[in-house]
Amino acid sequence: MQRYYMAIRRLAALCRAVPRSGVMAFAACVAMAGVALGASSLVSPAAVQAQGAPMGMRGHLGVASCAGSTCHGRSVADGAVVRQDEVLRWQEDSSPTGAHSRAWRVIQEPRGQAIVRRMGLDAAGVQRECAGCHASPGSSRPSDGVDCEACHGASGGWLSTHYTVGASHTRNVAQGMTDLVRPQVKAQVCLDCHFSGDARGQFIAHRIMAAGHPRISFELDLFSTLQQHHDEDADYVQRKGGKTSAMRMWAVGQAEAVKRSLELYSQPARAMDGIFPEFTFYDCHSCHRRIYDSEDGNVTAVRNPGRPVDLGTPPYNDENMIMLLAAARVVAPDAAAQFDARAKAFHKAMLANRAETVAAAQALRQSADALSDRFASTSFTREQTFAIMESIASDAIGERYTDYEGAVQSVMAVDTLLGGMVNQGMVSSGAANGLRVQINQAYAAVRDPNGFQPLAFRRALGSAVRSIRSLR
Ligand code: HEC
Ligand code: HEC
Ligand code: HEC
Ligand code: HEC
Repeated sequence: MQRYYMAIRRLAALCRAVPRSGVMAFAACVAMAGVALGASSLVSPAAVQAQGAPMGMRGHLGVASCAGSTCHGRSVADGAVVRQDEVLRWQEDSSPTGAHSRAWRVIQEPRGQAIVRRMGLDAAGVQRECAGCHASPGSSRPSDGVDCEACHGASGGWLSTHYTVGASHTRNVAQGMTDLVRPQVKAQVCLDCHFSGDARGQFIAHRIMAAGHPRISFELDLFSTLQQHHDEDADYVQRKGGKTSAMRMWAVGQAEAVKRSLELYSQPARAMDGIFPEFTFYDCHSCHRRIYDSEDGNVTAVRNPGRPVDLGTPPYNDENMIMLLAAARVVAPDAAAQFDARAKAFHKAMLANRAETVAAAQALRQSADALSDRFASTSFTREQTFAIMESIASDAIGERYTDYEGAVQSVMAVDTLLGGMVNQGMVSSGAANGLRVQINQAYAAVRDPNGFQPLAFRRALGSAVRSIRSLR
């Protein structure tokens, strides 16, 4: 996980180094489209309109239509309004910024092919099982991977107008651009692929993991920073109504992840795989443990007060529920107890039957939904952010990190929240950098999923948060 933090640092340095000046030639924008990627792949929006495409068409036009050298295809970030080198950053495939442009290609590479082979997939099988996440739904060019419109929305309705005089974010959104400024909207876009979604080929079943797919780990703010290709400068703040709050993004991301998990799990076709439950919903290492049943053997599972299930039953993966509870205790204390009670009831219902479990999942989902709304309209203060970090490392929450996934979330959370305070000017970057050693030690405690030790982990996290407390 440490590479995440390294990548963030690299990215931040890059953003600072890039000068921002120059004027965008609005009128020439569409005319030049396609230059950067080769005109042959161009689907010109003008041509689409000339063919009498219906108003309000929501067509997916492809990355070539964004890549003109006067649009987003510049080689330096010298745009007057936006950087305009977004395509280059998306293509920079040696860094996480460019991960999405290589999303289709990785399936053709050895690791991807090994998965395909182990699953016995033909081309149609790859479409069915992989394309929903490794290409853009709606695109006719899967080889472009996850392109601009996968996140910003199909551009048929707004491509030709989004840079003209009178354009505003509100108007663009009204014409079909996805409003990624809203944390809830953004979370839902990312979760489709970074958790699982409802569309075809967007479900990361255990069968795919068992064929060698990396496990999916996601935290909305951290991953947003890793793929960031915009600068939050004065004109961004003016156009988008403020800087991004990392704390709000984090908290809403947790709530939306809980919702997504429960929504998918509530669908019978998703929850089961033949006669077995779909294992992807459960904590991986609860099944993937070594067995010590000799005379001096010991049981390695640790009781978790947040999950009143019996030893020997696979516990539902509650990584985001734990984070959500930690945040709720600080920001929405009146709702925290109910959320906690409903989470416990959900885990417990699994010992009874599916009908009770689904009913409990719905109740829990409602609580998560209410928290998501609350967080989306909260401006997290310095005091609250410190308190959330304390909450994450507190005994009441700490005893729930019995599994690797929850532990990883807690480290990403502390990293994100500290970074968020630096961004908002609540903590100086010098002071935050001084704590890197401790945060890296917490990352180190989750480096090896198979060697995860709950107690050692809690010590590392506790000591990181104690050092952070010194900034309070
Ligand atoms: C629910 C969405 C989803 C589905 C379905 C999915 N993947 Fe992935 N895949 C991802 C994400 C997200 C990552 C990146 C994980 C990370 O780094 O956090 C990834 C990573 C990978 C990687 C590693 C890439 C690298 O850079 O090392 C390979 C290979 C891969 N997927 C192949 C496949 C294949 C083959 C299929 C179909 C059998 C498939 N994936 C289905 C979302 C998905
Ligand atoms: C993985 C999702 C994703 C992909 C892929 C993606 N973007 Fe973005 N983009 C975002 C997010 C999130 C933001 C920040 C939210 C915002 O301010 O609108 C953003 C911001 C931007 C901005 C700055 C907006 C502003 O008002 O300052 C531009 C321009 C942009 N993206 C263009 C592109 C282009 C061009 C591509 C394709 C080469 C692309 N994006 C691919 C998610 C994505
Ligand atoms: C259509 C599917 C899709 C959507 C939507 C999507 N991603 Fe991804 N993302 C992927 C896949 C697939 C990969 C893995 C590609 C690879 O490793 O080559 C990936 C990789 C990444 C990586 C690099 C991770 C690493 O370990 O290096 C980051 C960061 C990321 N995504 C952030 C985001 C964010 C933030 C959003 C929402 C704004 C988002 N993604 C939306 C499919 C998607
Ligand atoms: C309910 C139990 C259970 C859970 C939970 C579970 N698995 Fe599995 N896993 C299995 C079983 C059973 C197999 C098949 C073992 C075999 O083929 O011998 C397996 C196989 C695998 C394999 C292939 C191992 C090999 O050596 O062939 C991988 C990788 C894997 N699982 C990853 C995961 C991940 C990642 C998660 C969490 C998202 C997870 N599993 C959750 C039961 C589980």
